[in-house]
Amino acid sequence: MMYTFPERGLSEEMVTDLLREMRGRDCSYDHLLSTMCTRPHPVAVRAYTMFLETNLGDPGLFPGTAEIERRVVGILGSLLGCSDAAGYISTGGTESNIQAIRAARNSSGRRDGNIVVPRSAHFSFDKIADLLNLEVRKAELDDMLRVDVGDVERLIDERTVCLVGIAGTTEFGQVDPIEDLAELAIENNIPLHVDAAFGGFVLPFLDRNYHWDFRVDGVQSITIDPHKMGMSPIPAGGLIFRSSDPVRRLETETYYLTVARQASLTGTRSGAAAAATYAVIMHLGTDGYRRVVRRCMEMTEHLVSEARAMGVEPVIEPVMNVVALKIDDPPGVRRALLERGWHVSMTREPKALRLILMPHMTEENLDLFLDDMKDVISSTRS
Ligand SMILES: Cc1ncc(COP(=O)(O)O)c(C=O)c1O
Repeated sequence: MMYTFPERGLSEEMVTDLLREMRGRDCSYDHLLSTMCTRPHPVAVRAYTMFLETNLGDPGLFPGTAEIERRVVGILGSLLGCSDAAGYISTGGTESNIQAIRAARNSSGRRDGNIVVPRSAHFSFDKIADLLNLEVRKAELDDMLRVDVGDVERLIDERTVCLVGIAGTTEFGQVDPIEDLAELAIENNIPLHVDAAFGGFVLPFLDRNYHWDFRVDGVQSITIDPHKMGMSPIPAGGLIFRSSDPVRRLETETYYLTVARQASLTGTRSGAAAAATYAVIMHLGTDGYRRVVRRCMEMTEHLVSEARAMGVEPVIEPVMNVVALKIDDPPGVRRALLERGWHVSMTREPKALRLILMPHMTEENLDLFLDDMKDVISSTRS
């Protein structure tokens, strides 16, 4: 099929029909248990469309939008235990991780450095190795799938420019021992970056209290994604620093714009993500996010107890709304569930069925899914 630039334009109706047909081929969130994204909150969608034409790449032209971004950074900083945080709203977890590590590398002055990350780190760290010319050393995990701090210590040397801990691992939703990593970071005079792309909008709203954010000395930066559990539209990522010094290490001069320096990775960037994130945070508040997270956790507990009734155990007791189930033949079960219209994913090590209970999931759809899972699992046994 060859696609060509149309000589004469189509009517708006024809274009909309074309788009509708394509959009109809996409999967509906109703059947997705494989994604860490969700339907954005309606208040965020309205804010997004209001700010579509804004450009935070040239913030002097959009001072109102720039003020919204400053407020969002401040709000996220205080949620994470730091009242005068710095940072910006990025395109997502990948950009935030790249920039956090770039800031640490630039502060170190080294061009031949390494970083130590848990083996469970998201693949954005492999992109970082390539982009920033850093060696990425992967530390082993303990039997609860948290990073083994002894192994991190073993991997640190004089070239190490940053340590990374994860608060909400992509595959298992586990939280690394951030306090222990922070101690190592302080002892070795290296910054610690915490990747809470997923967990950032979960952990603060759980009943249980984890020590993983800026309240832990030694944590320099945190990735927290509004477009995951924050219920903001894609693309919305958050990169939050404890102070503005590392942000300065990211700046370049911007000779033709309204401001003299720019720290973001992208140049032109929409303010819609910041506005949408601000809108949903102001609308839901702590109470609202607690309700969202509680519902996701109740569905998580329901799924685990139904799985146990089928004789299936989770790999770890879920910390957040990510469940990995120990089953025979995960690829076969995944395929059979897909035939019934359900999208699930798999973990790598140990191999398991990975299910994420996001806000778009309903109790009714979860029960329909569980009926199908029961059939599929019993047929793999017979
Ligand atoms: C822990 C973690 N970090 C980073 C990312 C990358 O985020 P994004 O896909 O928004 O770039 C993800 C994605 O799921 C993640 O789970």
